[in-house]
Amino acid sequence: MLNDRFTARAGELTSTSRISPQRPRRLRHTESLRRLVRETTLTPADLIMPLFVHAGEEARQPIHAMPGQFRLSVEAVTQEARQIADMGIPAVLLFGIPQEKDACGSDNFAHDGIIPRTISAIKQVAPELLIISDMCFCEYTDHGHCGVINQQGAPDHHAYLPEGYLLNDETLDLLRRASVVHARAGADIIAPSGMIDGMVGAIREALDLNGFDHTAIMSYAVKTASAFYGPFREAAGSAPAFGDRKQYQMDYANGREALREAALDVEEGADILMIKPALPNLDILRTVRQTFNLPTAAYQVSGEYAMLHAAGAQGWIDLRRCAMESLISIKRAGADMIVTYFAKDVVAWLD
Ligand code: PBG
Repeated sequence: MLNDRFTARAGELTSTSRISPQRPRRLRHTESLRRLVRETTLTPADLIMPLFVHAGEEARQPIHAMPGQFRLSVEAVTQEARQIADMGIPAVLLFGIPQEKDACGSDNFAHDGIIPRTISAIKQVAPELLIISDMCFCEYTDHGHCGVINQQGAPDHHAYLPEGYLLNDETLDLLRRASVVHARAGADIIAPSGMIDGMVGAIREALDLNGFDHTAIMSYAVKTASAFYGPFREAAGSAPAFGDRKQYQMDYANGREALREAALDVEEGADILMIKPALPNLDILRTVRQTFNLPTAAYQVSGEYAMLHAAGAQGWIDLRRCAMESLISIKRAGADMIVTYFAKDVVAWLD
C-alpha cells in the first residue's frame, strides 16, 4: 500500500490511479475559501421578530419557557421596536394579550384594542419598521380557540353542528372586521394564522373594499396542529380551554394536503406564504417555495426556540451555533424570510 502510493507519487501509476481528481476538500481548508463558496447566508433583512404586547402596566413580564422573551407593555414595545429597526431588522410580528377576553374575542376588532393601540404607537417611533399583525382570535377568546365556537345558548348556535365546533364563516366575518381595524391603525401586512377556510379571500375582499388594497397578506398557509406551540400558549395565555386545534390546523403527517392549502391561499390572493413550524416541515417549505414562486416565510416557533435554549442552558449543545445551524437550514430549504425569536440575537451574532 505504502509502496503503491510512493510509486504513484513518482508519476509511474498516474493513468491507472483509481483516486478521483475531484477533491471537494480543496474548497474547505481555510475560512476564506469557505466564505467564498458559501451558498446560503443569513442577513438581518431575512428576519422578522415576534413581539408579545399585553394590556397591563408591567413593562416586561418574563415568559418562563422562552428565556429572553417578554410580554411587553405598549410603552415598552415601542422602545423595543425602535431598537429592532435600528438593528436593521425590517419587520416585527405582533401578538396581543388583551385585558379582557370574551366569547368572540372583541378586543381584536376594537379600535382601542391592544393591537391597534400598539400599531399606532410603533408607527410614531419607527415609521420604517414593517408591522405584521398576526390575525387570529385565540389570544382574545375566553375559550382559547381561533374563532367563534358553536356553544349552547349562543345567538349563532347551530343545532346540527357539534358543540365546540369552530364556526367557519362566522369567524371569517370577525377576521374581516379585525383586519380592517388593524390596517386602519397602520399595519403593513395582515397575517391570518387560524387555518380557517377562506380566510385569505375574506380578508383580501374586506381590505380592498375599505381602501386597503395596498395592505399585504402573509398567510400562515401551512400551519400544522403542532405540539411545538406549547411555550407560545403560555406566553399568550391562549391554550384552548377544551379540546385541541386539530379541527382546523393541519395534520402534520400530510404533505400533499399542505400543497393544497398553499394553492388555495395563492388563489385567494395571498402575497406571502408561510410554513409553520419550520424545522419539522423543511420538505414542505422546499416544495411550496418551488411550486408557487411567491415569497415564502418560515416560522421557527416557540418550541423550537425553547428546546435550543433548554439544551444550551444544560451545556449539552452550543446554543448559538445550533441556533445558526437551524436558521441556515431553514433558509437553505427555501425560506425567503424567517420569523424567529432569535432575530435580535442573530444580528448581534452576525456582528
Ligand atoms: C395564533 C398563533 C399561534 C402561534 C402563532 N400564531 C398559536 C397557536 O396556533 O396555537 C404559535 C407561535 C409559536 O409557537 O411561536 N393562532
